[in-house]
Amino acid sequence: MRYDAEGIEEVPPESFKSFWLEVKRSYFFRNKQHYLEFMRSCGGRIYSLRGTGRSTSHFVLVGNWRSHGDVTALWYLKGHGEARRALVREAAVRSFQGGVALFVTRPLGEGEAEEFAAWGFMPLYRIVLLERRSRPPDGEPHGVKGVEFIRFRKRHREEVLELDAGAFDAFWRLDARTLDAVASSCSRNLFLLARENGRLAGYAIGGTNGRFGYLQRLGVRDACQGKGIGEALSRRLIDSLSAMGAGVICVNTQEENGAARSLYRKLGFEEIPERRLIMSRKPDSMGWGR
Ligand SMILES: CC(C)(COP(=O)(O)OP(=O)(O)OC[C@H]1O[C@@H](n2cnc3c(N)ncnc32)[C@H](O)[C@@H]1OP(=O)(O)O)[C@@H](O)C(=O)NCCC(=O)NCCS
Repeated sequence: MRYDAEGIEEVPPESFKSFWLEVKRSYFFRNKQHYLEFMRSCGGRIYSLRGTGRSTSHFVLVGNWRSHGDVTALWYLKGHGEARRALVREAAVRSFQGGVALFVTRPLGEGEAEEFAAWGFMPLYRIVLLERRSRPPDGEPHGVKGVEFIRFRKRHREEVLELDAGAFDAFWRLDARTLDAVASSCSRNLFLLARENGRLAGYAIGGTNGRFGYLQRLGVRDACQGKGIGEALSRRLIDSLSAMGAGVICVNTQEENGAARSLYRKLGFEEIPERRLIMSRKPDSMGWGR
């Protein structure tokens, strides 16, 4: 069956609630309130296929990538066969018509990424997944001379965002909303800071969901890199996650991030062969343009 734009409609905001039971499966939204708040303030839109019975049977959900109003991300896709391509195309074309410069997917498994490649998407980032079995803490203090390690408090938020903006490139940089989401994404969370001469030098965020631990985010100020701060933050975080009951700790990073991959290998993480991919499309002459 073929679908054209005529068969696809934009869902009015008052109907977003009825999509929650489907959307919650994505694990992207912590709860219904987070979902509705995202839809309201981050350019959230849903396109669904008309005449397919239940409105939630074939649909695509898109919204801004973090704080980037000019990058639209596809957060959820539900449908089969040709309907999937039609929904993605429609969401991308309407985003480009709205002035967006780039349309990206969330990180996809390799099989799903191939499907997007067949629709003209290109890999934007390749992400390496790493895992490490927990071991009893080695009893080492994991310190760095002149560096103080403390717990995050709300008053440190702006300083963390400022450091993050310097440590990561524009695409990966955190905005306040995403920082809060990352720092509360697990059932138990931990947020550590490293301070040197009264100034923030680095931070690490992690958490556990039952037996699984996650090193979610790690950043060291440019000027403070190469002094052991990233390693000390990670080791402290890993020891705490193990003490919180994590049997396995997971982390991921971009394929081209040699410093992080080397650090994680030094910490005993092993790389999983399969990659995650963020796929992207720009407006072009193939009928997906503005
Ligand atoms: C990755 C990062 C956190 C490392 O922090 P750091 O404090 O500079 O690292 P450390 O001084 O503790 O180094 C520990 C180990 O990391 C690895 N490493 C650190 N910098 C490296 C570099 N530039 N090249 C290669 N390996 C590097 C090495 O294995 C090093 O061990 P060694 O000193 O025995 O060789 C830091 O470079 C950073 O913030 N980068 C930008 C943000 C980022 O990429 N975050 C992690 C990805 S999600």
